[in-house]
Amino acid sequence: MSGDRLPIGVIGTGYVGLVTAAGFAHLGSDVYCIDIDADKIARLEAGEIPIYEPGLAEMVAANRERLHFSTDIADALEHARLLFVAVGTPPTYSGDADLSAVYAVVEAIPALATRSEQQRHALVMKSTVPAGTGASIKRVLAGEGKQGLSYVSCPEFLKEGSAVKDFLNPDRVVVGDDGDWAGDAVVDLYAPLQATVVRTDIASAEMVKLASNAFLATKISFINEIANVCEETGADVIEVARGMGLDDRIGQKFLQAGIGFGGSCFPKDVNALKQLAGNSGYHFQLLNAVIEVNELQKRRVISKLLKHLGSLVGKNIALLGLAFKPNTDDMREASSLVLSARLQADGAKVRVYDPIAEEEARHLIRGVYFATGALDAIQDADAVVLVTEWEEFITLDWDDVASRMAGTVVLDGRNALDREAVAAAGLTYEGIGRGTLTSLT
Ligand SMILES: NC(=O)c1ccc[n+]([C@@H]2O[C@H](COP(=O)([O-])OP(=O)(O)OC[C@H]3O[C@@H](n4cnc5c(N)ncnc54)[C@H](O)[C@@H]3O)[C@@H](O)[C@H]2O)c1
Repeated sequence: MSGDRLPIGVIGTGYVGLVTAAGFAHLGSDVYCIDIDADKIARLEAGEIPIYEPGLAEMVAANRERLHFSTDIADALEHARLLFVAVGTPPTYSGDADLSAVYAVVEAIPALATRSEQQRHALVMKSTVPAGTGASIKRVLAGEGKQGLSYVSCPEFLKEGSAVKDFLNPDRVVVGDDGDWAGDAVVDLYAPLQATVVRTDIASAEMVKLASNAFLATKISFINEIANVCEETGADVIEVARGMGLDDRIGQKFLQAGIGFGGSCFPKDVNALKQLAGNSGYHFQLLNAVIEVNELQKRRVISKLLKHLGSLVGKNIALLGLAFKPNTDDMREASSLVLSARLQADGAKVRVYDPIAEEEARHLIRGVYFATGALDAIQDADAVVLVTEWEEFITLDWDDVASRMAGTVVLDGRNALDREAVAAAGLTYEGIGRGTLTSLT
């Protein structure tokens, strides 16, 4: 695809920024990508993709001549009027969103009062920010004589692991704006994707994003609690979720019980919404429970292991998968971080393997053995825990696994394994919310 599409700037070339940049380049725009991380920009210029995201390397390579990389925001300002902001908004210690990178971008833009209407720029906020941030930024802009700069909230809903596909096939595009040229320009940019556009005010657009993530996280914590009750009552949460999900008011998605949600978005956005409510004087009771259930869910693995093994002291425990979900190298808030630390604190020897996230994990996890493959991780293991459901773990030969393990326990933290196949190999299978299946041999 090509043509005379509007050039854009993208500030921040992480998961969201790089996918957004590659996606709009694919749709025909020249894209000026800016990042303060000079090393990242150098790698991008050299044709290297700093993150793992299926299809992204191919999309960047195919549109290389339309993608321009720089550490200087002036390059984007010179060539593009729409500046998509995709910098990180990580949690602070209080759970509020840290908006310092967003405000650094606002600061970096010079006053534009002397520019004509046609030369003016707009900030298009892709980063997830609390409702009210757009209004605050507009006040700051006005205070600094930058009122010529328009502001659009265009929250991002892509999922790591399928981000390129999600960019090209969004469920909806949300555009919150003041009804000026910038909102129209953003809607035009997305037009080739033929997505449903929700055109609204800025605060509502900001809230759509936080509310969506908080709702999805609530669904996960809900089914995890159902799973825990299933374990006490003999019900199988997979059957229960299937029966529930066929009600189209409920739906099948996000009803997979497991060892808790992680990643860069759900934990942070649930906390940010809780804090946003608290800062406005409203106690968002439900979200406290969502967060607490999620934390406890990660730790239930330890009590299950203790039930099977008696003590963890000196036991070899293999963790299969480290990333917070398959098809990504993102380790932010991954359950493996809590698990590896808890297991070591209880005296276990931890062997870990992830096909993609190892490099990232090495910065975050200490004291464990990083195995060269799944079979190396499970060698002499007293118990194996499936943490991330990468395809290569689903298709393991369980007879081979059994012959290498010292013990027999397989904890399926994602309910992703074929439990009959595991048990048929003489192993003891336990999932989440579906009881134990012992050796069928
Ligand atoms: N990752 C996701 O799945 C996802 C999905 C939807 C929304 N979001 C939101 O999008 C935003 C970005 O998330 P991400 O995962 O892409 O983050 P990321 O950490 O992968 O990338 C952020 C990038 O911004 C750069 N940066 C920081 N300050 C900068 C500055 N002042 N100028 C230029 N570049 C700067 C960093 O160097 C980094 O490369 C966050 O608000 C996040 O909540 C993320």
